[in-house]
Amino acid sequence: MTEPLIRFNQLSLSFASDQGRVRAVQDVSFDVQAGQTVGIVGESGCGKSVTAMSLMGLLPPQAARIDGGEILFQGRDLLKLRPSQMADLRGNQLAMIFQEPMTALNPVLTIGEQLVEPLIRHLGESPKPAWKKATKMITDVGLARAESLMSSYPHQLSGGMLQRIMIAMALSCKPQLLIADEPTTALDVTVQAQILRLLRDQARQNHMALMLITHDLGVIAQMADHVVVMYAGKIVEQGATADVLRNPLHPYTQGLIASRPTPGERRRRLYSIPGQVPDLAALPPYCAFTDRCERATERCRQGIPLLEGRSRQAACFYSGLSPANEMTQKELQP
Ligand SMILES: Nc1ncnc2c1ncn2[C@@H]1O[C@H](COP(=O)(O)OP(=O)(O)OP(=O)(O)O)[C@@H](O)[C@H]1O
Ligand SMILES: [Mg+2]
Repeated sequence: MTEPLIRFNQLSLSFASDQGRVRAVQDVSFDVQAGQTVGIVGESGCGKSVTAMSLMGLLPPQAARIDGGEILFQGRDLLKLRPSQMADLRGNQLAMIFQEPMTALNPVLTIGEQLVEPLIRHLGESPKPAWKKATKMITDVGLARAESLMSSYPHQLSGGMLQRIMIAMALSCKPQLLIADEPTTALDVTVQAQILRLLRDQARQNHMALMLITHDLGVIAQMADHVVVMYAGKIVEQGATADVLRNPLHPYTQGLIASRPTPGERRRRLYSIPGQVPDLAALPPYCAFTDRCERATERCRQGIPLLEGRSRQAACFYSGLSPANEMTQKELQP
């Protein structure tokens, strides 16, 4: 098997807080293959963005601490690179777009100025050809009147147009990986669908890997080859999207699927997972989903289930994947 483009290997990281260390990411391991779309899903506060930021080298240095693990990019550990080496990779081989495009753009520079800058900086192009290329990039992400948009300021554009500009900017240096963190949550439904289609087409055309962070399993179903389900800073389930959605093994994944609105069933009262994500500064010494899990038994309070399995993984004593979990439990019996 070829080396993955990205390999998260047992990544753990935490933040200092008044309540103690916030364990935002624990033992996270997953791969992104070249050209593959990996979806990361989970409720708010589960560690999705922080996982992405760690890859981009964008964690706040004073507050965040890497507690262990590595993030390999083509076999090279990104966590060991100097800030200047990371800055070279960012926006070049690794790119990211955010939920709020407006916050990522500079309000006092024109769209053109902002699109041209990385072409000059990373690709060493001279201003005139860079301007021409940037104009074409705007057309390529489906926007009309590219010339006039080049001289516009961000506040003159709609949210959907800005997100297209962000995608154009992210794609400009032909990155090998694009991370999209909730790229469509701030947009209305029709624009959401257009942006997702654009991301998918661009990823295919450029053989680019996509790490797509979302709350929305519908987006995962439509876009992702592989899905990583995060809960309270850990991966609780991962596998090929079709397998996970058809046959979810972890009760948390089952809850996410059950709480997803299905077209045509709008009036049915939606299931929602009871309770809340636990405090990441005070995680229990047992399965962190137990207190919200309708299937929990005494056994679930006796230890932390390991993430078991190979291509298909789940961290639940009852997943059916877990000889090691069974063993852990047997050892725990008096
Ligand atoms: N700078 C920070 N300082 C302290 N704690 C932080 C910091 N950034 C994130 N955290 C904590 O890390 C945890 C994971 O946050 P993260 O932003 O990754 O969640 P998320 O899954 O992306 O949620 P959402 O869906 O709301 O974006 C949260 O408990 C959050 O409070
Ligand atoms: Mg987030």
